[in-house]
Amino acid sequence: MPKTAIKLNVNGKAEDLLVEPRELLIYVLREKLNLTGPHVGCETSHCGACTVEIDGKSVKSCTMFAVQANGADITTIEGLSTPDNLHVLQRMFREHHGLQCGYCTPGMIMRAHRLLQENPNPTEDDVRFGIAGNLCRCTGYQNIVKSILAAAAEINAAQEAAE
Ligand code: FES
Ligand code: FES
Repeated sequence: MPKTAIKLNVNGKAEDLLVEPRELLIYVLREKLNLTGPHVGCETSHCGACTVEIDGKSVKSCTMFAVQANGADITTIEGLSTPDNLHVLQRMFREHHGLQCGYCTPGMIMRAHRLLQENPNPTEDDVRFGIAGNLCRCTGYQNIVKSILAAAAEINAAQEAAE
């Protein structure tokens, strides 16, 4: 099948790629760019394991073709932090046991990351509603919600201290 040239800006790095029109973005991220943080759970836009940020929106990367992302700014879980300097959401998920098997965690954290930018002071209900598109098969939602609320509190406290 003929390939199409696309340009993506992924985690701040410009990437030039040749992709087939049928290729889903999740596979281009995982297999061509070696970004294996976004996971494949269902491939039917149900579970949210493949969630990344595209041009400032949470997107399930199994729901779009890579060619549709041409020119986009993409952030994956790899773009949030380094192993020595975890993002506050990652620290809170660790501290509050927000991950069990961890398969849903990258998508959950990427969704939470965007949620806290959309709503920096979410209530518990806001968090539950905000992550409704991300499934945790371990049904560990209690601690995931706790982790996200704790991250919001830490971010807000740091902002207040800086003002
Ligand atoms: S793998 Fe994309 S939503 Fe499940
Ligand atoms: S921690 Fe197991 S699926 Fe979410």
